[in-house]
Amino acid sequence: MKLSIQQGVNGRWRSRWTFIFAAAGSAVGLGNIWKFPYIVGENGGGAFVLVYLACIMAIGIPIMMAEVMLGRRARLSPINAMLHLSRESKVSHWWSGVGWSGVLAGILILSFYSVVAGWAFHYLMLAMSGDFYQIEAQSSGALFSGLLSNIPALISWHTLFLLITLGIVAGGVVKGLGTAARYMMPVLLLLLMVLVIYSAAVGDFASALSFLFNFNTQALQWNSVSVALGHAFFTLSLGMGAIMAYGAYLPDTKISIGRTVLVIGILDTFVAIMAGLVIFPIVFANASVEPSAGPGLLFVSLPIAFGGMTAGSFFAALFFFLVVIAALSSGISMIEPTVSWLVETKGISRLKITALLGVAVWLVGLGTVFSFNVWSDVTLFGSTFFDALDFLTANIMLPLGGLFIAIFVGWVMKPSFVAEEIGDIRRGLYRCWYFILRYVSPVLLGLVFCITLFNKLSS
Ligand code: TRP
Repeated sequence: MKLSIQQGVNGRWRSRWTFIFAAAGSAVGLGNIWKFPYIVGENGGGAFVLVYLACIMAIGIPIMMAEVMLGRRARLSPINAMLHLSRESKVSHWWSGVGWSGVLAGILILSFYSVVAGWAFHYLMLAMSGDFYQIEAQSSGALFSGLLSNIPALISWHTLFLLITLGIVAGGVVKGLGTAARYMMPVLLLLLMVLVIYSAAVGDFASALSFLFNFNTQALQWNSVSVALGHAFFTLSLGMGAIMAYGAYLPDTKISIGRTVLVIGILDTFVAIMAGLVIFPIVFANASVEPSAGPGLLFVSLPIAFGGMTAGSFFAALFFFLVVIAALSSGISMIEPTVSWLVETKGISRLKITALLGVAVWLVGLGTVFSFNVWSDVTLFGSTFFDALDFLTANIMLPLGGLFIAIFVGWVMKPSFVAEEIGDIRRGLYRCWYFILRYVSPVLLGLVFCITLFNKLSS
């Protein structure tokens, strides 16, 4: 295949910290604030958290380093990066399949992500009109189910979220996102602290702590391991090229990938744990909210907390505003690999590409909207459209993408190339990372993947 690709047309970050903020902006999102608490609740708490933390450290962070490295070495969008690097190491161009699966995964994930971000938009409006004032657990539950059956509202918010996300992407990620993420992250962290303190004061903090950190591994099921692994990929934005695309915009080659990635991983994990410490004290203080409430957990429990708080409406509005912003900076990274690829390869304008992709994502998103109301009975392998999409992307496509990335960097790429990019960390650490990537990650990923498939097919 002939290629007339243009390296670097998509820009460069201004500094190492801009990259950190942008990548953290991608990582920190609905996955941390909305998904993490509810899957912890559904999977019984502590043991699940332990497996999740192990997955982040043993698989997530090493693979994130690999992704950033691939992007920076090639300085191209994921599909072209894999083409370029496989040529450099003289192996089959089929490795670009990693990029292709990422394109598909990005579109699918954004389609349901946008619907959920839409809920946060709706809650922002409710907060601003004071609807949470002194709300009880039951009416909070009713408020959320009311939203799920309100199709016009769901579609409007989904549309608005996509328009903003794609608007930023159309303007170029480096310019648009770099600065925004710099302000957002500190405010988000601050607000989470305030909320944790509030939850600790009014909620059942002790129960929440023991639920999250009581590592009772007996209760652990295989399915939970698969969910934990999938979520490690989801929350770090791994396995589909988002981080690879961002790595391609790193300003210079002297930046330590290991140290940079560590900052991002720690930040992401911290936000998830904090979100848990905000939500669970409230859940355990209100008998009618179950930890296993599912996707509605955040939206049902938080209004109760805000409703009883002085200046609660203000804080609630601020919080949901931040959730929307966090979701935006994540949503952008789902579509950037595809957009940057089309810009490089075809030279089409960003505006045209994003408009086209937007229509596609919007249409797929309707499936998620309907899965909460008119299609709630339509199931595939026992899951609704939304659950099936979530499972297909987080539990299959992302870990599989990660597996191929680990194999590529660990076994296929010339070791000297790898050392050139990552070798600036201490020798022992480097060896450890390389070992994990060659043996630990592929074996664990392969194993969990087989079990996941087996369980799904036999259920
Ligand atoms: N990490 C984000 C979150 O936790 C979601 C996300 C952004 C993502 N980009 C991604 C997930 C790419 C998978 C792949 O909300």
